[in-house]
Amino acid sequence: MKRMKGFALLWFLILTAIVIAACGSSSQQPDDYTPEYAADNNIAAEEELQEYQPTTEEIYPSESEDTYEEYSPEQEANNINAIEAVDIESREYYILPPPITEGGISVEEALTNRRSHRNFRNEPLTIYQVSQLLWAAYGITLPIPDAHHLRGGLRTTPSAGATYPLELYVVIGNVTGINPGVLRYISEEHKLVRVVDGDVRRELTAAALGQQMVEAAPISIFYSAYFPRITERYGERGIRYAYIELGHSAQNVYLQAEALGLGTVAIGAFFDYMVREILNLPYEEEPLYIMPIGYFY
Ligand SMILES: Cc1cc2nc3c(=O)[nH]c(=O)nc-3n(C[C@H](O)[C@H](O)[C@H](O)COP(=O)(O)O)c2cc1C
Repeated sequence: MKRMKGFALLWFLILTAIVIAACGSSSQQPDDYTPEYAADNNIAAEEELQEYQPTTEEIYPSESEDTYEEYSPEQEANNINAIEAVDIESREYYILPPPITEGGISVEEALTNRRSHRNFRNEPLTIYQVSQLLWAAYGITLPIPDAHHLRGGLRTTPSAGATYPLELYVVIGNVTGINPGVLRYISEEHKLVRVVDGDVRRELTAAALGQQMVEAAPISIFYSAYFPRITERYGERGIRYAYIELGHSAQNVYLQAEALGLGTVAIGAFFDYMVREILNLPYEEEPLYIMPIGYFY
């Protein structure tokens, strides 16, 4: 009897070892998430990605690539995309049409139907849709022109101390009337200013670990945070507040997309240093979210 128990225990240990080995070998290694891999294994790759939690080391492969030292003061001064941009009027810009503030579906319906969408149709968006989405994300709802620190007034998104540390960009791929590129959203004037020329969606997909929806969607809203705006008031806690605010704003985008019959997904998995380069991001800003948006199936 004792021998039987011994055999059973031995078999149990062998089987456990086999199961652990099998799980280990089938788990996807991050190196496999190249654009080529994702193209060849589209569905599998997306499914895996949803499960996959990158480590800090993978997202920040080398701290030195993301440090601020690589920007000299001269580069900083010449950076027309910088927060305190002096040269913004000389850039191509688009005044966005005013947003609508009454819609066809209720908040309850939008909440019930909201889902992350990852399959987008190759159909252009209009400047009206782009305007509405950006306004929902971070638009001004109560203008207070004289309060300089508010940069225009209070917004659709709550913000600790009304400091509004987020910066929004729109990556344009297929929008009627706007050439592809990357444009910064100037929320206080509800306008877009071009910072990059040309369609960067393919490169951005590669930076987002090959998540194909970035290339397929006609636009992506991109979020970064300019932390000094909030840490000057709240110290380290301001970092937490900025991340919380991102959640508020991104949910607005989800709900507005739903109300417009569009879909989106919040993407947090990407390589910061690649995204910084592709979007010509000022060194003071930290990339946070990519939200591809479009008609979905
Ligand atoms: C912080 C954060 C990061 C996320 N990153 C990704 C991502 O990189 N790729 C992706 O496909 N979905 C991403 N998502 C979306 C989640 O996968 C999705 O919200 C979740 O599966 C629940 O599905 P639902 O949004 O349809 O309810 C992210 C969501 C959050 C909140």
